[in-house]
Amino acid sequence: MEFSQSITELITSRSSWRSYKSQTLEPELHSQIIDYINRQTQGPLGHTTRFQLIEKDDPLRIDNASFGTYGFIKNARNFIAGAVKKGTRHWEDYGYNLEKIILKMTDLNLGTCWLGGTFKRSEFGPLLKVGTKEVIPAITPVGNGTKNRAIRDRVIRWGAKSRTRRPWEILFFDGSFSLPLSVSNAGKFAKALEMVRLAPSASNRQPWRIVRHGGTFHFYLQRTPNYSGFTKSKDLQRVDMGIAMCHFDLTVREAGIVGGWIESEPKLDLLELAEYIISWEEYK
Ligand SMILES: Cc1cc2nc3c(=O)[nH]c(=O)nc-3n(C[C@H](O)[C@H](O)[C@H](O)COP(=O)(O)O)c2cc1C
Repeated sequence: MEFSQSITELITSRSSWRSYKSQTLEPELHSQIIDYINRQTQGPLGHTTRFQLIEKDDPLRIDNASFGTYGFIKNARNFIAGAVKKGTRHWEDYGYNLEKIILKMTDLNLGTCWLGGTFKRSEFGPLLKVGTKEVIPAITPVGNGTKNRAIRDRVIRWGAKSRTRRPWEILFFDGSFSLPLSVSNAGKFAKALEMVRLAPSASNRQPWRIVRHGGTFHFYLQRTPNYSGFTKSKDLQRVDMGIAMCHFDLTVREAGIVGGWIESEPKLDLLELAEYIISWEEYK
């Protein structure tokens, strides 16, 4: 078993943590992390990912407490950072794999926080020796969180409305975007969709939309207009899509439902700024 707790327990118990105890990791924990991240080398859509545990132990740094995170993360000594080879769906594959890692860290009782905007790519790039064909979509601190969230953390969470999620009728559809999918009509897939709904996303924008056609689930990205998380060097909403794919995939697998990802865009009337990403199909 990859995780000691059920995937639904891990997804519901995870939340972003931005204030850490300034401790080094126990050697046993350290090697468990290295072992797990070293195995996340391929996303479900075929792109190569690599991850590294970066330890910050230079006590002389001026911005020591917030190393490379513009002060958004307090006292973390360890970060998991990674890179992915550019391709057609590399943002999604990276999102999928880093979320799997984040859920594994949750399973190990460690705090994490997706960082796609508030970290210095210029500091992490050289540490990762990022090649010209690679990008660093996001990173996470990892470690023991403080007992209570620091005030700054609470302010950020309040600003991003981090505890709230959109309701089913905004996110999930039955056959077309004009008919919302109800929990009862989702049947055995309801849990997996609920786990998508609870996923973390950049600025908590929750851009994923899913249309069901029988045993096939078409994943769409509903882009946030003028979103700052979309620049040439980063497309955080496609990373969000990878996170949604991860939650869906791990939850159906745990339920014993067998299927896989396929490119199969249906002809649907799309809302403005919506993009087809990928479909998941149950094997018969
Ligand atoms: C791709 C991605 C990028 C993110 N980037 C940042 C970031 O740069 N800084 C930050 O403080 N939080 C960042 N977050 C965390 C989100 O704000 C957070 O996941 C969301 O508000 C939901 O809160 P929760 O994770 O506690 O459930 C990011 C999340 C994701 C998924």
